[in-house]
Amino acid sequence: MTIHEEFQQALNEQITAELEASLVYLQLSYALDDLGLVGMRDWMKNQSEEEQVHAAKFSQHLLNRDVLPQIGNISAPIVKVESALEAFEAALNHEKMISERIRRLAELQITHKDYDSRPLIDTFLAEQVEEEATIDEILDRIKIVGNSGSGILRIDGELGAR
Ligand SMILES: [Fe+2]
Repeated sequence: MTIHEEFQQALNEQITAELEASLVYLQLSYALDDLGLVGMRDWMKNQSEEEQVHAAKFSQHLLNRDVLPQIGNISAPIVKVESALEAFEAALNHEKMISERIRRLAELQITHKDYDSRPLIDTFLAEQVEEEATIDEILDRIKIVGNSGSGILRIDGELGAR
């Protein structure tokens, strides 16, 4: 089944958005390295790589359906953070934006009755719920320890081990 033009474009834009998300996480990994939080840095790096995998899943879906994926203009957003709290808040905000995009894809999938993409979209709907919950939990723990350096370092150690 051919993909409706509008849906095709939205899937293409999602590839670009996932690649941008990868860059956001990469930037956050630099900031955390700079703060001396190497466990959190590794966690962000890992997320950055995961976003590349997400982009690959969308592009593979297009290729499987005989559409040549086209990466759009990538604008690496400027993210300035000065603490672990700010870094994970930035990550959560970005994930929320991605979740909104996936919901929009789900809407388009229904509008255009594109049943073939349903497994892909469903996977990502579930993925986003999980991503937000994971970051939310980390944020809760960072808030519990507050300004305690040893508390932050303990969370840093735990995240580095993941
Ligand atoms: Fe993603």
